Amino acid sequence: MPDKVVLAYSGGLDTSVAIKWLKETYSVDVIALTIDVGNERDFSAVQQKALKVGAVKALVIDGKELFVKYFIFPALQANALYEGQYPLATALSRPLMAKLLVDVTLAEGASAVAHGCTGKGNDQVRFDVSVNVLAPDLKIIAPAREWGMTREKTINYAQRHGIPIPVTVSSPYSIDENLWGRSIECGVLEDPWAEPPEEVFTWTKSPGQAPDKPDYVEIGFEKGIPTTIDGQELDGVTLIQHLNELAGKHGVGRIDHIEDRLVGIKSREIYEAPAATVLLQAHQALEAMTLSKDQLRFKQKVAMEYADLIYNGLWFSQLNRDLSAYVLSSQRYVTGAVRLKLFKGSSTIVGRKSPHSLYCLSLATYDKGDIFDQSASVGFIHLWGLPVKTQAQVQLLGDKEGPLSIMGPKEPEEG
Ligand code: ARG
Repeated sequence: MPDKVVLAYSGGLDTSVAIKWLKETYSVDVIALTIDVGNERDFSAVQQKALKVGAVKALVIDGKELFVKYFIFPALQANALYEGQYPLATALSRPLMAKLLVDVTLAEGASAVAHGCTGKGNDQVRFDVSVNVLAPDLKIIAPAREWGMTREKTINYAQRHGIPIPVTVSSPYSIDENLWGRSIECGVLEDPWAEPPEEVFTWTKSPGQAPDKPDYVEIGFEKGIPTTIDGQELDGVTLIQHLNELAGKHGVGRIDHIEDRLVGIKSREIYEAPAATVLLQAHQALEAMTLSKDQLRFKQKVAMEYADLIYNGLWFSQLNRDLSAYVLSSQRYVTGAVRLKLFKGSSTIVGRKSPHSLYCLSLATYDKGDIFDQSASVGFIHLWGLPVKTQAQVQLLGDKEGPLSIMGPKEPEEG
């Protein structure tokens, strides 16, 4: 009896060809597993296609809730943005897919998993590392990394084997999407000087075409998790979908990123992430009000480490547990509401409030009711500046090049 392989199946050209290729190359039965992470798609059509192309079984799992609860919200609480720009939509979905792939593989008694990643990207790393951590005995097959076919050859292969070629194949772009965002690359986007053509965007209106009237939205957070919109309680999936639509309509959330892949390549990717953009902005605005200066600074470092870890495929690491524990602890008082104005491609924070706000009007005000003791500043400044003043008197003002050198170092002479 041939052995079984569970393939992460998207319904696209590569993974469809992979079903046939796996059967031909390894004489295995292929079980197709499609995971719904909020990529709007006709999943029963995807399922039918897998069977038609030759899968012995085609499963679809709705992973949206798991994705939001265990991946998106923790990343939001951490403010994870890779290289300060990319909200990590694709990167966050891979460990969830790997986990479900492993679960199904074990349940089906199969001995290998397969995925459609090439050998040039980050996704192969995320899948392989995650599978190796979760089930080290499973074999991993990555057909597109092995078969060495160009896109044209893949299309020929599909034609020869009667594999329906999706209409999207005529599109020059490679697209991945889920609740947290849409990633677009290839085609003209490979030229970093070329402005992304309007056709690459499907979630966001061009800011110029966006409504002439702004929309205001109020997002309520509880311990760093968004729970309400305009006072109405919503589950995470619905809340994100709603914000994708609303902010997308105003052209908010377009990102053009030259990013550093783990495999050493700089690549240009366009992202559409309306909900992620708005939520990250609102969350940080609330943190600014409820966390101390020191907490905010330390948390920025954690955010960077956390984003790198997600990007680099190390989700299932002990470092993740350690950092998550810190992030969770930091969110105890991040409860309150943030109001944003969405208008012609920009989202602006226009209001925030929290029962745990550290903003104290009687300290901040320049009007009556001021309790800040201005005379205390004199002594404070005296001590704060003491080390600089002492050092300047001993070293800087006595400098033989004269006090002008305090203007900064001279430029080195040429030659
Ligand atoms: N560069 C992003 C990442 O590594 C997205 C990768 C998938 N992009 C795509 N257009 N298929 O996470």
